[in-house]
Amino acid sequence: MKVVILDSPAEVARYGADIFQQQLKRKPDSVFGLATGSTPVQLYRELIERNRAGDISFGAVRSFNLDEYMDLPPTHPQSYRYFMNSEFFDHIDIDPANTRVPPGDAPDPIAACEAYEQAIGDAGGIDIQLLGIGRNGHIGFNEPTSCLTSRTRVKTLTRETIADNARFFAEGEHQPHLSVTMGIGTIMEARLVVLLATGASKAAAVKAMVEGPVSAWCPASILQMHPAAVVIADEEAASHLSDPGFFKHIEAENQAMLARLGRA
Ligand code: GLP
Repeated sequence: MKVVILDSPAEVARYGADIFQQQLKRKPDSVFGLATGSTPVQLYRELIERNRAGDISFGAVRSFNLDEYMDLPPTHPQSYRYFMNSEFFDHIDIDPANTRVPPGDAPDPIAACEAYEQAIGDAGGIDIQLLGIGRNGHIGFNEPTSCLTSRTRVKTLTRETIADNARFFAEGEHQPHLSVTMGIGTIMEARLVVLLATGASKAAAVKAMVEGPVSAWCPASILQMHPAAVVIADEEAASHLSDPGFFKHIEAENQAMLARLGRA
């Protein structure tokens, strides 16, 4: 697991956007795994700007989102489909037909989850998976105690996650307690995983993910087993790590090596 610690959320967004830009350069028809939540919004804005500037194109990209609330139609302002359209897809040159979000309102959710897995496989698998992290260490909506080899399925949200996400729902508005989420096994099959973490509220989860035992109690800790996982954290999110200076040293050495090779 590579851990990059940067000064601010804006730098985290730029560093993450650079990874996506490099991926598009390598493979213009990449398959993206995308995430919702407040953390990736700045990264999406970076990518929108670069798309507008003509530096990158999403014309050949296909995308699969991580998760969706159960029983919210895609037109609901709190649905993750609505979020992705308004925060990202509506502002870039991606073909909307090439964007998928797990169906939260499918008449047969179990069949819909199987079809989602099938569609990811048919697309050739996910090249680069973007993740945020919940305060309790969840990735997607894979809450603590999730099976570490799970596939796309219906998941009950913890009371903590429901409380954390209540800020997005109006007083008295129906807030789902169930979700449809890619599984941890699904996420682990992505060729490259990029997890963003910003703010002090994520510090304990980041420490458990990076230093803790690999445990279903912190689902993100499974990324220790991923051959190409990058955690990009700001100072606050990294503040509980035992030795943040070590990761900064490694990154400085990496950058120096890339400069020597003329690849910086
Ligand atoms: C939500 C999403 C996750 C996201 C997490 C953190 O519940 N299902 O994919 O990473 O919470 O959200 P935020 O970035 O707003 O802190």
